[in-house]
Amino acid sequence: MGAEMGEELTMPRHVAIILDGNGRWARSKGMPRNYGHVQGAKTVETICEDAYRMGIQYLTVYAFSTENWGRPRDEVDALMKLLRNYMKTCLKTAEKNRMCVRVLGEKSRLDEDIRSRIQELEEATKDNDGLHFQIAINYGGRDEIVRASRKMAEAVAEGKLRPEEITEETLSGFLDTAGIPEPDLLIRTCNEQRISNFLLWQLAYTEFYFTPVLWPDFTKEELMKAVEAYNHRDRKYGGLKVR
Ligand code: IPE
Ligand code: IPE
Ligand code: MG
Repeated sequence: MGAEMGEELTMPRHVAIILDGNGRWARSKGMPRNYGHVQGAKTVETICEDAYRMGIQYLTVYAFSTENWGRPRDEVDALMKLLRNYMKTCLKTAEKNRMCVRVLGEKSRLDEDIRSRIQELEEATKDNDGLHFQIAINYGGRDEIVRASRKMAEAVAEGKLRPEEITEETLSGFLDTAGIPEPDLLIRTCNEQRISNFLLWQLAYTEFYFTPVLWPDFTKEELMKAVEAYNHRDRKYGGLKVR
């Protein structure tokens, strides 16, 4: 791609974010970790709006991993409480901005009331034509591939699918992200440079961008910096020209 000054920017169609550093942000302010999570949730709200105004069509954020259950009990409880409230706020924002929201991950481990809020949110927003916003909750890339494999095995056992018919497209269609284009750009905040079990299959050709900024401090300007860096990559697949 290699954009020069004054040239139009190529917008990544799908941006995925591993939001990290809520705990460190809070600690730097002498506050409890949960304060960082509350602030981090607010950043998610604003970045959704900013991303869409910039011309990004799909945004996926990693909110809670399958490994995050291993955090101290009170932190897990606080995160679940936050997600519970977030589902309500998100429903309002989605109505206002015509966002189409989908939750990725294994939902059965979540409390019943959170699951019903997720269902309500997905159902109410499924026909919206604004930003496609995916939230990964109790999500693990390996777990997603295992669940997809099980579903395929069931289809084979029921005679609905033949093993020789299984292709990359077939497997993609059984993933939580079925129908969603693969991410063009992955951003991880707080200077950690690992995938932490996020979208293992889908990130095959994604460009990675790492920034030291802590998630609660992430802004539209930071997002634009990531998009500019993306424009200087010599990328072979994907992308979309926008004015
Ligand atoms: C990211 O912030 C949010 C979640 C993983 C839920 P962290 O909680 O991982 O923050 P640090 O890494 O401890 O600073
Ligand atoms: C990754 O962040 C998971 C989420 C952002 C939800 P973590 O902070 O949990 O990841 P590790 O433990 O540093 O790999
Ligand atoms: Mg972290």
